[in-house]
Amino acid sequence: MNNFELYNPVNYVFGKGQIEKLKDLVPANTKILITYGGGSIFKNGVYDQVKAALATQFEENNIVEFGGIEPNPRYETLMKAVEIIREQKIGFVLAVGGGSVIDGTKFISAAVNYEGDAADILRKRILFKEGSDVIPFGTVLTLPATGSEMNSGAVVTINETQEKLTLGGSALFPKFSIVDPTVITSLPKRQLQNGVVDAFTHVMEQYLTYTHDALLQDRIAESILQTLIEIGPDVVENPSDYKLASNFVWSATMALNGLIQKGVPSDWATHMIGHELTALYEIDHARTLAIIGPNLYKVMFETKKDKLAQYGKRVWNIQEGSTEEIAEKAIEKTVDFLHTMGMKTKLSENTADYAKTADFIVNRFEERGWKALGEKQNITPEKVRAIVEMSY
Ligand code: NZQ
Ligand code: ZN
Repeated sequence: MNNFELYNPVNYVFGKGQIEKLKDLVPANTKILITYGGGSIFKNGVYDQVKAALATQFEENNIVEFGGIEPNPRYETLMKAVEIIREQKIGFVLAVGGGSVIDGTKFISAAVNYEGDAADILRKRILFKEGSDVIPFGTVLTLPATGSEMNSGAVVTINETQEKLTLGGSALFPKFSIVDPTVITSLPKRQLQNGVVDAFTHVMEQYLTYTHDALLQDRIAESILQTLIEIGPDVVENPSDYKLASNFVWSATMALNGLIQKGVPSDWATHMIGHELTALYEIDHARTLAIIGPNLYKVMFETKKDKLAQYGKRVWNIQEGSTEEIAEKAIEKTVDFLHTMGMKTKLSENTADYAKTADFIVNRFEERGWKALGEKQNITPEKVRAIVEMSY
């Protein structure tokens, strides 16, 4: 097992009716900004629950609101919130929404005190390690998928240049996250499907590498995959079933709260290529992963086949055949699962205008110096091209 440090300071508050705990979790005696997205929180009662919880502790004029954070949050929009915080001396931000609102809030938190061009936070990937450099924030999660509620990373798009870039650092963990599984009841089926597939792929990025000696990490990763396979198809049909919803939400958090990444190699190339598809065509994040993931496993078959076979045996219970045969069947099973989860796994099924995608992505990665991706740094630009072209 590789050496590691495990640091996760998020106060993770899970379960039915937990939003009312906001009154104890949000620091008193400070002005707060509530950030949200396109308005789903007004329709499903989450906003009312948040306001009711805060009303016991806060004067109305100490609560400011900022809505309109888009799916795949835009730098240009977030900078408007940064201005509000600076002008109104806000001391705490409460993100109420899915991964986009939470990620956007992480960027806002980092940008307020940043001296210089805030776009550099993304372009130069500035790491935020000092709590005093950022504005503290908490979250009320409404969409299980990204794990953003319990990690310190975020993804923000610069609209002007169509660049989808990451930021992060240990100062960007939420102070707390309230995760009430009943909030998923109002999610459209498409978003439920996205959540399952995003969480599934997060595990795959950290698990489907090469065989190693971190036995417990493998078993935890496999158990998250098995849970998502077991409940995924049902939870999208019955999100109000609390057993399904609660296991889904917790699986999505566990998939990317840092735990399964410790001590093991990780890949993340599916995400890096997928982010470009969202930047180019606005394809939902999870759907880009469903397009790229299986083709990456095929192109990188020699590197990954032993782990694919382990995955095939343990997760899909494929026992017959050689390592190669089991590995190939495991990829087929994965694609079948993605189809069951409503994914269209070809780029051409998601956009008509895809002919130059591989050229664009390879050029961009070369410009950024991303010439050696993956757990063995052997996903070269040629391999990226092969993966993207196989995805057409
Ligand atoms: O904006 P509103 O009106 O709230 O509607 C949202 C949005 O339209 C809606 N929604 C959310 N909760 C709802 C709801 N509708 C009804 N009922 C609810 N309870 O769902 C739509 C999608 O929301 P969004 O936040 O964009 O989805 P998701 O949570 O999948 O986040 C995707 C973003 O997270 C990034 C992605 O790249 C993408 O930008 N990621 C962040 C990661 C991280 N921070 O660690 C890792 C991931 O790999 C991912 O890259
Ligand atoms: Zn993801």
